[in-house]
Amino acid sequence: MSEKKQQVSRRQFLNYTLTGVGGFMAASMLAPMVRFAIDPVLKASSASEMHAVVEVSEITKEPQRFDWTVEQVDAWYTSDVTHSAWVYKNEKDEIIPLSPVCKHLGCQVNWATNEPDEFYCPCHGGRYYKSGENVPNTPPNAPLDLYEFEVRDGTLFLGQPVPRQEV
Ligand code: FES
Repeated sequence: MSEKKQQVSRRQFLNYTLTGVGGFMAASMLAPMVRFAIDPVLKASSASEMHAVVEVSEITKEPQRFDWTVEQVDAWYTSDVTHSAWVYKNEKDEIIPLSPVCKHLGCQVNWATNEPDEFYCPCHGGRYYKSGENVPNTPPNAPLDLYEFEVRDGTLFLGQPVPRQEV
């Protein structure tokens, strides 16, 4: 039986080594770029998340402001962000969860601080009826957004605020 000796020449050895090292370096440079490019696809969507806000039994006919905190991950930075809603039940006992963000320039509206049955924005005197519709001839030109919501086991869960048609 003849013994075959596999000889690797110096040139082949250098070729294999340089190809291996070059491939490793290229992969280490490309991997973070690919990861960055497809990151939004890999991330779970927070847009559809619903958050427990209040027991339905606590909701009255008078709008009340409720706050909740959400952990927000922005790349490698994690922070707590507080969201708010004005929530009440209308005459038909339907839950109305309004965004407090003024549709003029984004200030926060308050309930009954100017007129008894209206939301009022202190920044430029914006006014909204209880339904969230903007009072004509005041700065806002659209109604307050309505939150997506659902009731589970007697608790109100809110999702994203959704813009409504202009009035
Ligand atoms: S931001 Fe509300 S009226 Fe201007």
